[in-house]
Amino acid sequence: MLTVGSAASYYGVAVMGQFPWSALVDSSLLLSIHLEKKETFMGMLDGKVAIVTGSGHGIGRGHAMELAKHGAKVVINDLGGSVTGEGSGRAADETVALIAERGGEATPNYANVTDHDACGELVQQAIDTYGRLDIVVNNAGIVRDAAIWNMPVADFDAVMGVHVRGTWSMCHHAAVYFRAQAKAGEKLNGRIINTTSGAGLGGNFGQTNYATAKAAIAGLTLTLAQELAAIGVTTNCIGPAGLTRITATMPGAGEAFEPDDIAEDDFHPMDPGNSSPLVAWLASDQAAYVNGQVIRALYDQIIWMQGWRERVTIASGNKKWDATKLGARMSAEVFQTAPTGIKFLQA
Ligand SMILES: NC(=O)c1ccc[n+]([C@@H]2O[C@H](COP(=O)([O-])OP(=O)(O)OC[C@H]3O[C@@H](n4cnc5c(N)ncnc54)[C@H](O)[C@@H]3O)[C@@H](O)[C@H]2O)c1
Repeated sequence: MLTVGSAASYYGVAVMGQFPWSALVDSSLLLSIHLEKKETFMGMLDGKVAIVTGSGHGIGRGHAMELAKHGAKVVINDLGGSVTGEGSGRAADETVALIAERGGEATPNYANVTDHDACGELVQQAIDTYGRLDIVVNNAGIVRDAAIWNMPVADFDAVMGVHVRGTWSMCHHAAVYFRAQAKAGEKLNGRIINTTSGAGLGGNFGQTNYATAKAAIAGLTLTLAQELAAIGVTTNCIGPAGLTRITATMPGAGEAFEPDDIAEDDFHPMDPGNSSPLVAWLASDQAAYVNGQVIRALYDQIIWMQGWRERVTIASGNKKWDATKLGARMSAEVFQTAPTGIKFLQA
């Protein structure tokens, strides 16, 4: 009998283990022995359990499919609302069905990540359904763009709620679970993978709510990386790209598509699944040495970001700065924009 592991059946192929093929001459004998041989393929995430928030559509769907492809069992969370966060639906079921069709294992969850207790229930659902939790991918997101003078406070709060509070609540409940496991003596390879964006890292006109939220997620990641490292949990942040419902809100962006619209072996620069292999790798044991990093995955590129670093430092010489004299030093020494005058060589 041929037994195939979950990751292998995702492709519908069997990968053979080590076998002394040179000893065989008769091809029919070879075939029958092949069929008797137990499958030895190991997916890089076999045995792991993941939650991906907002995985009913877009980039999250790509992550969930990729994690399942490599053997993880995945809880597909999605509120199923609009791109601006109104309403609810069963988008999670579509991703569960896509994963099941490909031989993977997934289960739906329809919680709103702004509901702190519902995030706790989501963590518990993963544990109750699959016996453990290894990976949390915080991806759920909405946009409500407007220049700041036109932005209602409700649109600031809604965007902050989904991205910041939602990510924080998931991290909180996952951390409680991971800590209990570590205290019980389990050696963890826990993973939290958050989602920032170019708007949060470099700013974007019309997105003061979204950019603030995405910058906060980078800060949250840096802090969690310090708090959870000792118990074997890494926390990193990706910055993805894709022509999703969110991108399609921008004028001239084009029509959104889903990662499953692209064939497994095709490449499209705006495939919402382009960052998903990075997520799968970060989630794997191979990436245990990567913690507190922000990594963008745009088109065919992976970009390791460098955060705030000291650039130029000046000192007052142990006295309080004098505002009236600061200008000269700021322009000449800090920003190095003003001519410093002709310097004469001293004899
Ligand atoms: N598309 C891009 O180019 C891009 C770039 C940078 C960052 N991002 C980020 O990637 C993530 C995914 O966005 P996308 O572009 O795939 O958009 P998308 O709209 O296709 O997917 C977002 C998903 O999150 C779900 N969601 C929204 N609010 C939720 C809530 N409160 N609870 C649970 N689920 C909720 C939505 O229903 C949707 O399925 C977001 O965090 C977004 O900010 C996207």
